[in-house]
Amino acid sequence: MAGTTNLIMKTLLLFPVVALSPGTAVRYSANWTSIDSRPLPPWYDEAKIGIFIHWGVFSVPGFGQFSEWFWWWWKGAQREAEVDFMNKHYPPNFEYTDFANNFRAQFFNPDDWADIFESSGAKYVVFVSKHHEGFCNWPSEVSWNWNSVDIGPHRDLVGELAEAVRKREGLHFGLYHSLYEWFNPLYLKDKASGFKTQDFVFQKTLPELVHLVNTYKPELIWSDGDWEAPDTYWNSTEFLAWLYNDSPVKDYVVVNDRWGKGCYCTHGGYYNCADRFTPGTLPDHKWEKCQSVDNRSWGYRRNMKLIELMDLPTIIQDMVYVVALGGNYLLNISPMEDGMISPLFEERLRGMGGWLAVNGEAIYASKPWRVQGENTTVPVWYTSKNNTVYAIMLEWPSKLMLNLEVPKTTKDTIVTLLDNPSVPLKWLPTEPAGMVILMPEDTPVSHGQAWVLKLVEVA
Ligand SMILES: *[C@@H]1O[C@H](CO)[C@@H](O)[C@H](O)[C@H]1NC(C)=O
Ligand SMILES: *[C@@H]1O[C@H](CO)[C@@H](O)[C@H](O)[C@H]1NC(C)=O
Ligand SMILES: *[C@@H]1O[C@H](CO)[C@@H](O)[C@H](O)[C@H]1NC(C)=O
Ligand SMILES: *[C@@H]1O[C@H](CO)[C@@H](O)[C@H](O)[C@H]1NC(C)=O
Ligand SMILES: *[C@@H]1O[C@H](CO)[C@@H](O)[C@H](O)[C@H]1NC(C)=O
Repeated sequence: MAGTTNLIMKTLLLFPVVALSPGTAVRYSANWTSIDSRPLPPWYDEAKIGIFIHWGVFSVPGFGQFSEWFWWWWKGAQREAEVDFMNKHYPPNFEYTDFANNFRAQFFNPDDWADIFESSGAKYVVFVSKHHEGFCNWPSEVSWNWNSVDIGPHRDLVGELAEAVRKREGLHFGLYHSLYEWFNPLYLKDKASGFKTQDFVFQKTLPELVHLVNTYKPELIWSDGDWEAPDTYWNSTEFLAWLYNDSPVKDYVVVNDRWGKGCYCTHGGYYNCADRFTPGTLPDHKWEKCQSVDNRSWGYRRNMKLIELMDLPTIIQDMVYVVALGGNYLLNISPMEDGMISPLFEERLRGMGGWLAVNGEAIYASKPWRVQGENTTVPVWYTSKNNTVYAIMLEWPSKLMLNLEVPKTTKDTIVTLLDNPSVPLKWLPTEPAGMVILMPEDTPVSHGQAWVLKLVEVA
């Protein structure tokens, strides 16, 4: 174990000093100015839609608001709901780590999962490799036995899912990774030193990150759990310089912005900012909104109720708003400890895929337009591809005439509805700008409660 750690640390120590030489690819230095200057690999902006998957030992108790924090609620914050739950239902000497024996994954079929993800219309998957509880969903050599091969499922969950996802053309595979671990003694020791020592980082975090990258070659790293310590404690810029210069994924890997206290919304690749980031105007940096179908938790809650889940129209409308404002939409589902995805989550994902199968042209590889939306006849969000503009209506107009104030028509303008693209719709320009469109009499079926008008050759 120690030998491996040393090797990995030596690898990490090699990178920062290589100078930029003519004729070779740009090399990044271990500072934010340099790291932040890397262009985002284009696949990410084009993909637009991802699926987030929170699965771990927390899925076993599967209880309470933000169930993935169960251990912390119970032992750290000592939140009443979790403390009562444990007192009522478990013997007094029961430890959180005992839950791992019941993390069985007996129905986990990674191909079934990949099929659902593909059917959702998503173009990337972000799987929790390790959450703040520290349990590794892959055989980490520096995790003692706190991983899915030594206990619980006795399977390499990351590896199996990576392989199944990669069989689907057009689905990218990414990993979520928590930098900190609430109760790891090494972390607690560093924390007690005011983060002056870095034993946890050098013996756990960095070896694991490098191992994940070299073994599973994730196309995206969704970093989290950074906020208690500065990025200099995590050696984040050193890790990212290695990732961008010398790792096997250097040409296409994408990362987010959670790399140390104060980093989010400021440094890294694309920005997540806070969970469920919901900007009011077009941000000037690529961003992603992560949102959970179960809005009260990222991990599975056995006590969730139907009314607490986002319904399909709400999901579609949220996704459309995000894409119109230049974001990506990362929709979370929460598998059960036995490896099943609740048919309720599956229904939402397949429903999103049904809508995207008709309307995806307005979403994938689109760009924000010069105006993001208007509310003239009905609420409309805009996306664009050069001179083609997509007006995404969140309501079907009650009158046959739909007014759009923003598009400037030309003599070549053609208007169609993506539900029925072979039938051009009649339209007339209005003064001083805008247009009025004669809508079809019958409302097309849209399971997502959003309809797309394609406006060809408008300005
Ligand atoms: C970051 O690295 C670049 C390239 O080595 C260097 O030119 C620049 O001065 C560094 N910036 C800071 C703030 O250290
Ligand atoms: C961590 O960062 C420090 C300070 O920048 C550097 O001296 C050290 O080599 C780095 N170590 C690793 C393993 O990245
Ligand atoms: C989700 O929950 C947050 C607070 O936790 C709330 O602000 C937001 O409106 C909720 N969204 C939906 C769609 O219910
Ligand atoms: C339309 O108006 C509603 C209510 O003010 C607002 O919440 C929504 O964001 C607007 N939609 C667009 C596309 O501007
Ligand atoms: C826009 O036009 C350029 C050049 O004609 C083309 O290469 C590009 O693919 C177009 N972009 C989109 C989003 O259609």
